[in-house]
Amino acid sequence: MVNFLLEIFILCSVFVFVCGSLEKLATLPFDEGYSQLFGDDNLMVLEDGKSVHISLDERTGAGFVSQDLYLHGFFSASIKLPADYTAGVVVAFYMSNGDMFEKNHDEIDFEFLGNIRAKNWRIQTNIYGNGSTNVGREERYGLWFDPTEDFHTYSILWTDSQIIFYVDNVPIREIKKTQAMGGDFPSKPMSLYATIWDGSSWATNGGKYKVNYKYAPYVAKFSDFVLHGCTVDPIELSPKCDTATNSAFVPTGVSLDQRRKMESFRKKYLQYSYCYDRTRYKVPLSECVIGPKEADQLRGFDPVTFGGVLRHHSKRHHQRQSRREDASSK
Ligand SMILES: *[C@@H]1O[C@H](CO)[C@@H](O)[C@H](O)[C@H]1NC(C)=O
Repeated sequence: MVNFLLEIFILCSVFVFVCGSLEKLATLPFDEGYSQLFGDDNLMVLEDGKSVHISLDERTGAGFVSQDLYLHGFFSASIKLPADYTAGVVVAFYMSNGDMFEKNHDEIDFEFLGNIRAKNWRIQTNIYGNGSTNVGREERYGLWFDPTEDFHTYSILWTDSQIIFYVDNVPIREIKKTQAMGGDFPSKPMSLYATIWDGSSWATNGGKYKVNYKYAPYVAKFSDFVLHGCTVDPIELSPKCDTATNSAFVPTGVSLDQRRKMESFRKKYLQYSYCYDRTRYKVPLSECVIGPKEADQLRGFDPVTFGGVLRHHSKRHHQRQSRREDASSK
């Protein structure tokens, strides 16, 4: 028995990902992986060089973007969200190539939607491929912790066949590419972005609660940057893959143990999934894995209270675009 435990211990040390931990991946100082996108002094790099604060006040939000473009990889950041009254505030950690491909861009999103006091933040995930902006694939979740109290890790695994979202190394969503998805599955090189901005028109109860600048600045803290993928030169477009020694720590899929954790997370915390929204999609999209229990569980949630989906999307892109224009015109 002791030997057995010892073996498990050794196995876990060697193949950390098998045991569900991804903690050994090398993290990058901010300046080595990212650059400021907009927001002047509302982006502040801390003295350790490894952490960044981005804030929203009545003047502006703030954001940063990866220096490299990536085709597939594992991307991660630890994030601590602003506390107390945060209605209308949106923090996003996402991949996109919207500035290179205006008409047919790809996107993989983590979005954090603020809330009125004493109500929790919610997380939303979504993907777009090749300009499929009329086909939202949103899911929303509660969390098993208060994301304003401490740093938690949010990660994206993107390969040519699947996308997995993780919170604290627990997979919360898995999208397997199907043939029918075609270009809707993100397939072109993307940059990483992190932003904080005013989403008053939709973020909290469909726009009912706006950002209140009496409580500004709203500060989102980022740290522990992992950018582990194949970088792509925007001119040559030939990927150079990171084969660093720590690549064994990058997950390649959902292990059995992780699948159990994912199922248990979704059972408790999934609040909305486009796969069960018959108002939007009469027939579930091809990648949806429909479970009758999940359907029952989601029946009680009204998508409208989370914001009209189409309006949300166009508004958000408009805002990001205008923020970007702000940034580049300075
Ligand atoms: C992506 O969109 C472009 C232009 O809209 C189209 O020509 C191309 O075939 C699409 N690619 C895929 C993989 O669907």
